[in-house]
Amino acid sequence: MELIELLKNRRSRRRFTDRKIEEEKKDLLIKSVLLSPASKSSNPWEFVVVDDPELLKQLATSKPHGAELVAGASLAFVVLGNPAKSDVWIEDCSIASVLLQLEAEDLGLGSCWVQVRARNHADGYPASEFIKKLLGVPENLEVLSIVAIGYSEEEKKPRVFEKLGYEKIHQNKY
Ligand SMILES: Cc1cc2nc3c(=O)[nH]c(=O)nc-3n(C[C@H](O)[C@H](O)[C@H](O)COP(=O)(O)O)c2cc1C
Repeated sequence: MELIELLKNRRSRRRFTDRKIEEEKKDLLIKSVLLSPASKSSNPWEFVVVDDPELLKQLATSKPHGAELVAGASLAFVVLGNPAKSDVWIEDCSIASVLLQLEAEDLGLGSCWVQVRARNHADGYPASEFIKKLLGVPENLEVLSIVAIGYSEEEKKPRVFEKLGYEKIHQNKY
């Protein structure tokens, strides 16, 4: 598939089948994040790859809204950043999260980004603290996102060029 077609087809998927993700696909997903570009090649990201159904259920409770879908995923990448390694770790981790979503799409998998940074757990403390405790993540790392992945159970229409927001595009000057 041409990249532009892949970009049109990629939609957030929040319902997944029980089908497990094959090891070869998991390996390619891991390769995709490690291929991410990063400012000054500082590679400030690390990833916890979660396929334990009990942990996935726990991750789904890391914030009150918008994380429930993780419980039904076969796999989740918890994207961690090290602010001491880069002042633009958020950008670097965001790029890794998106590349992971595109690789998932290319492998016939569905995915959804679940925001963690700047979000709170239902009990009022940072969602990242909940996740760090759950997964044993060192204190000096931050959690940017969870990318939930699985075989999608949803039919979603690809985007169409005619409905893109061309008003967002400014030529030469705003
Ligand atoms: C930075 C970011 C944070 C997001 N956080 C969540 C989230 O916490 N939960 C969720 O269900 N979707 C989340 N999404 C998915 C967006 O809701 C989705 O990308 C958007 O509605 C556009 O739909 P599409 O992905 O199908 O094109 C997030 C997406 C981005 C880029």
